[in-house]
Amino acid sequence: MSNDPKEPLLLDHDYDGIQELDNQLPRWWVWLFYITIIFSAVYLVYYHVTRTGQLQAAEYASEMKAGEQIKSGAMGKFESSIAALQPSKDAAVLETGRQSYVKYCAPCHRVDGGGLVGPNLTDDYFIHGGTYADSVKVIWDGVPAKGMITWKTVLKPEEIQAVASYIYTLRGAKLASPGKPPENQQPAKPAGPSAFE
Ligand code: HEC
Repeated sequence: MSNDPKEPLLLDHDYDGIQELDNQLPRWWVWLFYITIIFSAVYLVYYHVTRTGQLQAAEYASEMKAGEQIKSGAMGKFESSIAALQPSKDAAVLETGRQSYVKYCAPCHRVDGGGLVGPNLTDDYFIHGGTYADSVKVIWDGVPAKGMITWKTVLKPEEIQAVASYIYTLRGAKLASPGKPPENQQPAKPAGPSAFE
């Protein structure tokens, strides 16, 4: 190989008149090539010999675990705060709540809250207690055995509070057609929406 790129060496082979030049490779290319070799050695030692670095699958698993911890921590924190929660009166929050209600809850509780598969939410009778916190709790946990979905895996805590605040405004609502009558629900104490304020 000639060292002077200006005088490339013409190689001997000649196939059907096609000749080949043995040019010197550009320095930057050669250096890149050396760097890839060094990189591969470092990579091999780091990931496979000393196992200092986590491979993709292990890194994914540990990030998922960290994510789960953050999530369950936040969920636990929310759960322990439920008892002290108050319904929101903010129009924007109630509107978000109404949208969630129409989308997720109305198929079972009727658009106006009168009740279908699920109980009437507009009367003074509740199976799981009549406070706002009772509603948040039952929406959060659900009652899977009775057909009420566990919403904590679907909705965020703020969304659950918004929908609970919205259904709180349905209490005592005048329904166009009769709502579902109370079955074995207990009247909320104290009864009537105004009494909850
Ligand atoms: C698949 C049907 C279904 C859907 C969807 C549903 N619910 Fe229910 N819900 C029920 C049933 C059934 C009960 C009664 C559970 C029981 O008997 O313990 C109930 C109970 C409740 C209660 C307690 C009522 C009481 O008397 O204590 C609240 C509050 C409630 N649902 C709110 C909601 C909200 C808010 C949503 C939407 C995010 C929703 N539900 C979606 C079926 C449903």
